[in-house]
Amino acid sequence: MNIEDDLHIRQIGENEEAPMVLLTLADPSDQRIRSYLKQSDCYLAELTGEIIGVYVAGKISRDTIEIYNIAVKEAFQGKGIGKHLLMDAVNRYSKAGYKAIEIGTGNSSIGQLALYQKAGFRIDCILRDFFTDYYEDHIYENGIWCRDMIRLNRTL
Ligand code: ACO
Ligand code: ACO
Repeated sequence: MNIEDDLHIRQIGENEEAPMVLLTLADPSDQRIRSYLKQSDCYLAELTGEIIGVYVAGKISRDTIEIYNIAVKEAFQGKGIGKHLLMDAVNRYSKAGYKAIEIGTGNSSIGQLALYQKAGFRIDCILRDFFTDYYEDHIYENGIWCRDMIRLNRTL
Protein backbone atom coordinates (compact mmCIF):
# COMPACT_ATOMS: atom_id res chain seq x y z
CA MET A 1 0.00 0.00 0.00
CA ASN A 2 1.28 3.46 -0.89
CA ILE A 3 0.15 5.46 2.14
CA GLU A 4 0.08 8.84 0.41
CA ASP A 5 -2.07 7.52 -2.47
CA ASP A 6 -4.54 5.92 -0.07
CA LEU A 7 -4.69 8.87 2.30
CA HIS A 8 -7.96 10.78 2.19
CA ILE A 9 -8.02 14.32 3.63
CA ARG A 10 -11.40 15.82 4.46
CA GLN A 11 -12.87 18.58 6.59
CA ILE A 12 -14.31 17.42 9.90
CA GLY A 13 -18.10 16.97 9.92
CA GLU A 14 -20.27 19.54 11.69
CA ASN A 15 -21.28 17.15 14.49
CA GLU A 16 -18.10 15.09 14.48
CA GLU A 17 -15.89 15.04 17.61
CA ALA A 18 -12.40 16.47 17.11
CA PRO A 19 -9.66 13.81 17.54
CA MET A 20 -8.38 15.11 20.90
CA VAL A 21 -5.88 12.26 21.39
CA LEU A 22 -4.13 13.24 18.16
CA LEU A 23 -4.41 16.99 18.76
CA THR A 24 -2.88 16.56 22.22
CA LEU A 25 0.28 15.09 20.62
CA ALA A 26 0.96 18.54 19.17
CA ASP A 27 -0.34 20.68 22.03
CA PRO A 28 -0.55 19.53 25.66
CA SER A 29 -3.18 22.15 26.51
CA ASP A 30 -6.74 20.84 26.08
CA GLN A 31 -8.02 24.30 26.87
CA ARG A 32 -6.01 25.97 24.12
CA ILE A 33 -6.98 23.26 21.60
CA ARG A 34 -10.69 23.73 22.35
CA SER A 35 -10.30 27.48 22.10
CA TYR A 36 -8.69 27.52 18.62
CA LEU A 37 -10.92 24.71 17.33
CA LYS A 38 -13.91 27.05 17.75
CA GLN A 39 -12.60 29.55 15.21
CA SER A 40 -10.68 27.31 12.81
CA ASP A 41 -10.94 24.72 10.06
CA CYS A 42 -10.12 21.15 11.08
CA TYR A 43 -8.99 18.61 8.47
CA LEU A 44 -8.71 14.88 9.08
CA ALA A 45 -6.47 12.40 7.28
CA GLU A 46 -8.03 8.96 6.93
CA LEU A 47 -6.38 5.75 5.89
CA THR A 48 -8.72 2.82 5.27
CA GLY A 49 -11.34 4.44 7.49
CA GLU A 50 -8.97 5.17 10.39
CA ILE A 51 -8.17 8.77 11.35
CA ILE A 52 -4.37 8.92 11.46
CA GLY A 53 -3.70 12.63 11.05
CA VAL A 54 -5.14 16.06 11.64
CA TYR A 55 -4.45 19.73 11.13
CA VAL A 56 -6.23 22.80 12.41
CA ALA A 57 -5.85 26.16 10.68
CA GLY A 58 -7.38 29.56 11.31
CA LYS A 59 -7.31 33.04 9.80
CA ILE A 60 -5.07 35.48 11.71
CA SER A 61 -5.34 38.46 9.38
CA ARG A 62 -7.03 39.37 6.09
CA ASP A 63 -4.69 37.25 3.96
CA THR A 64 -2.76 35.11 6.45
CA ILE A 65 -3.65 31.71 7.84
CA GLU A 66 -1.98 29.93 10.78
CA ILE A 67 -1.65 26.21 11.30
CA TYR A 68 -2.36 25.90 15.02
CA ASN A 69 -2.02 22.16 15.28
CA ILE A 70 -0.72 19.34 13.08
CA ALA A 71 -0.35 15.75 14.22
CA VAL A 72 0.10 12.22 12.89
CA LYS A 73 -0.67 9.08 14.88
CA GLU A 74 2.61 7.75 16.34
CA ALA A 75 2.63 4.45 14.40
CA PHE A 76 2.38 6.40 11.11
CA GLN A 77 4.96 9.11 11.83
CA GLY A 78 8.08 9.42 9.67
CA LYS A 79 6.36 8.15 6.52
CA GLY A 80 5.74 11.48 4.79
CA ILE A 81 2.21 12.05 6.08
CA GLY A 82 3.05 15.21 8.05
CA LYS A 83 4.62 16.75 4.95
CA HIS A 84 1.58 15.70 2.91
CA LEU A 85 -0.75 17.42 5.41
CA LEU A 86 1.37 20.59 5.38
CA MET A 87 1.32 20.69 1.58
CA ASP A 88 -2.45 20.09 1.62
CA ALA A 89 -2.80 23.23 3.77
CA VAL A 90 -0.40 25.20 1.55
CA ASN A 91 -2.33 24.28 -1.63
CA ARG A 92 -5.78 24.66 -0.07
CA TYR A 93 -5.20 28.14 1.38
CA SER A 94 -3.23 29.33 -1.62
CA LYS A 95 -6.22 28.42 -3.85
CA ALA A 96 -8.51 30.18 -1.37
CA GLY A 97 -6.57 33.42 -1.99
CA TYR A 98 -4.43 33.63 1.16
CA LYS A 99 -0.99 35.20 0.70
CA ALA A 100 0.91 33.66 3.63
CA ILE A 101 0.80 30.74 6.01
CA GLU A 102 2.35 30.70 9.49
CA ILE A 103 3.20 28.03 12.02
CA GLY A 104 4.74 28.13 15.49
CA THR A 105 6.63 25.43 17.34
CA GLY A 106 8.85 24.99 20.38
CA ASN A 107 12.59 25.69 20.51
CA SER A 108 13.00 21.99 21.41
CA SER A 109 11.07 20.65 18.39
CA ILE A 110 14.06 19.76 16.21
CA GLY A 111 12.23 17.34 13.88
CA GLN A 112 9.30 19.71 13.42
CA LEU A 113 11.63 22.62 12.62
CA ALA A 114 13.33 20.40 10.02
CA LEU A 115 10.00 19.39 8.49
CA TYR A 116 8.62 22.94 8.28
CA GLN A 117 11.78 24.29 6.66
CA LYS A 118 11.84 21.40 4.18
CA ALA A 119 8.26 22.36 3.32
CA GLY A 120 9.34 25.90 2.44
CA PHE A 121 8.73 27.72 5.73
CA ARG A 122 11.31 30.22 7.00
CA ILE A 123 11.93 31.33 10.54
CA ASP A 124 10.35 34.71 11.12
CA CYS A 125 10.64 35.51 14.82
CA ILE A 126 10.83 34.09 18.32
CA LEU A 127 8.26 34.57 21.07
CA ARG A 128 10.52 34.24 24.09
CA ASP A 129 9.04 32.46 27.14
CA PHE A 130 5.78 31.70 25.31
CA PHE A 131 5.62 28.15 26.69
CA THR A 132 6.61 29.07 30.23
CA ASP A 133 4.15 31.98 30.27
CA TYR A 134 1.15 30.15 28.81
CA TYR A 135 1.60 26.48 29.79
CA GLU A 136 1.37 25.31 33.40
CA ASP A 137 3.77 22.36 33.18
CA HIS A 138 7.34 22.40 31.97
CA ILE A 139 7.74 20.71 28.57
CA TYR A 140 10.91 18.76 27.67
CA GLU A 141 11.65 17.37 24.22
CA ASN A 142 14.91 15.94 22.82
CA GLY A 143 16.39 16.66 26.25
CA ILE A 144 15.74 20.40 25.75
CA TRP A 145 13.47 22.63 27.90
CA CYS A 146 10.78 24.02 25.63
CA ARG A 147 10.43 27.69 26.53
CA ASP A 148 10.31 29.81 23.39
CA MET A 149 8.03 29.64 20.37
CA ILE A 150 9.77 29.75 17.01
CA ARG A 151 7.47 31.25 14.40
CA LEU A 152 7.88 30.37 10.74
CA ASN A 153 6.08 31.53 7.64
CA ARG A 154 5.77 30.71 3.97
CA THR A 155 4.52 32.90 1.15
CA LEU A 156 1.61 31.34 -0.72
N1 ACO B 1 16.71 16.29 11.20
C1 ACO B 1 16.43 16.45 9.89
N2 ACO B 1 15.23 16.15 9.35
C2 ACO B 1 14.30 15.67 10.18
C3 ACO B 1 14.52 15.47 11.56
C4 ACO B 1 15.80 15.81 12.06
N3 ACO B 1 16.09 15.66 13.35
N4 ACO B 1 13.38 14.97 12.10
C5 ACO B 1 12.47 14.90 11.10
N5 ACO B 1 13.04 15.30 9.96
C6 ACO B 1 12.47 15.39 8.64
C7 ACO B 1 12.34 14.02 8.01
O1 ACO B 1 13.56 13.62 7.46
C8 ACO B 1 11.25 14.28 7.00
O2 ACO B 1 11.76 14.97 5.87
P1 ACO B 1 12.01 14.20 4.47
O3 ACO B 1 10.64 13.86 3.96
O4 ACO B 1 12.72 15.19 3.65
O5 ACO B 1 12.82 12.98 4.83
C9 ACO B 1 10.37 15.25 7.76
O6 ACO B 1 11.16 15.92 8.71
C10 ACO B 1 9.28 14.47 8.52
O7 ACO B 1 8.30 14.32 7.61
P2 ACO B 1 7.04 13.36 7.80
O8 ACO B 1 7.39 11.92 7.78
O9 ACO B 1 6.08 13.85 6.76
O10 ACO B 1 6.53 13.73 9.25
P3 ACO B 1 5.42 12.97 10.14
O11 ACO B 1 4.45 12.24 9.28
O12 ACO B 1 6.08 12.25 11.25
O13 ACO B 1 4.65 14.23 10.75
C11 ACO B 1 4.61 15.52 12.74
C12 ACO B 1 5.35 15.22 11.45
C13 ACO B 1 3.23 16.08 12.40
C14 ACO B 1 5.41 16.60 13.50
C15 ACO B 1 4.49 14.22 13.57
O14 ACO B 1 5.76 13.70 13.84
C16 ACO B 1 3.73 14.38 14.87
O15 ACO B 1 2.52 14.23 14.90
N6 ACO B 1 4.45 14.69 15.98
C17 ACO B 1 3.81 14.87 17.28
C18 ACO B 1 2.95 16.11 17.28
C19 ACO B 1 3.72 17.37 16.94
O16 ACO B 1 4.81 17.59 17.43
N7 ACO B 1 3.11 18.22 16.09
C20 ACO B 1 3.66 19.52 15.72
C21 ACO B 1 3.61 20.48 16.86
S1 ACO B 1 3.71 22.20 16.33
C22 ACO B 1 2.15 22.53 15.75
O17 ACO B 1 1.26 21.71 15.85
C23 ACO B 1 1.88 23.85 15.10
N1 ACO C 1 18.58 16.10 18.30
C1 ACO C 1 18.81 16.16 19.62
N2 ACO C 1 20.04 16.31 20.14
C2 ACO C 1 21.05 16.38 19.27
C3 ACO C 1 20.89 16.32 17.89
C4 ACO C 1 19.58 16.17 17.40
N3 ACO C 1 19.32 16.11 16.09
N4 ACO C 1 22.13 16.43 17.32
C5 ACO C 1 23.01 16.55 18.31
N5 ACO C 1 22.37 16.52 19.47
C6 ACO C 1 22.93 16.62 20.82
C7 ACO C 1 23.55 15.31 21.23
O1 ACO C 1 22.58 14.41 21.70
C8 ACO C 1 24.48 15.79 22.33
O2 ACO C 1 23.74 16.06 23.50
P1 ACO C 1 23.82 15.05 24.77
O3 ACO C 1 25.21 15.15 25.28
O4 ACO C 1 22.78 15.62 25.71
O5 ACO C 1 23.46 13.72 24.20
C9 ACO C 1 24.95 17.12 21.72
O6 ACO C 1 23.94 17.58 20.85
C10 ACO C 1 26.22 16.92 20.89
O7 ACO C 1 27.25 16.97 21.79
P2 ACO C 1 28.76 16.55 21.47
O8 ACO C 1 28.90 15.08 21.20
O9 ACO C 1 29.52 17.14 22.60
O10 ACO C 1 29.03 17.34 20.11
P3 ACO C 1 30.29 17.19 19.14
O11 ACO C 1 31.50 16.73 19.87
O12 ACO C 1 29.85 16.45 17.93
O13 ACO C 1 30.53 18.72 18.76
C11 ACO C 1 30.09 20.20 16.98
C12 ACO C 1 29.52 19.46 18.17
C13 ACO C 1 31.19 21.17 17.45
C14 ACO C 1 28.95 21.01 16.36
C15 ACO C 1 30.68 19.16 15.99
O14 ACO C 1 29.68 18.25 15.57
C16 ACO C 1 31.28 19.78 14.74
O15 ACO C 1 32.48 20.12 14.73
N6 ACO C 1 30.47 19.95 13.66
C17 ACO C 1 30.97 20.54 12.44
C18 ACO C 1 31.35 22.01 12.66
C19 ACO C 1 30.17 22.81 13.15
O16 ACO C 1 29.04 22.70 12.67
N7 ACO C 1 30.46 23.69 14.12
C20 ACO C 1 29.49 24.61 14.66
C21 ACO C 1 29.15 25.71 13.67
S1 ACO C 1 28.43 27.14 14.47
C22 ACO C 1 29.79 27.87 15.16
O17 ACO C 1 30.86 27.48 14.98
C23 ACO C 1 29.54 29.07 16.06
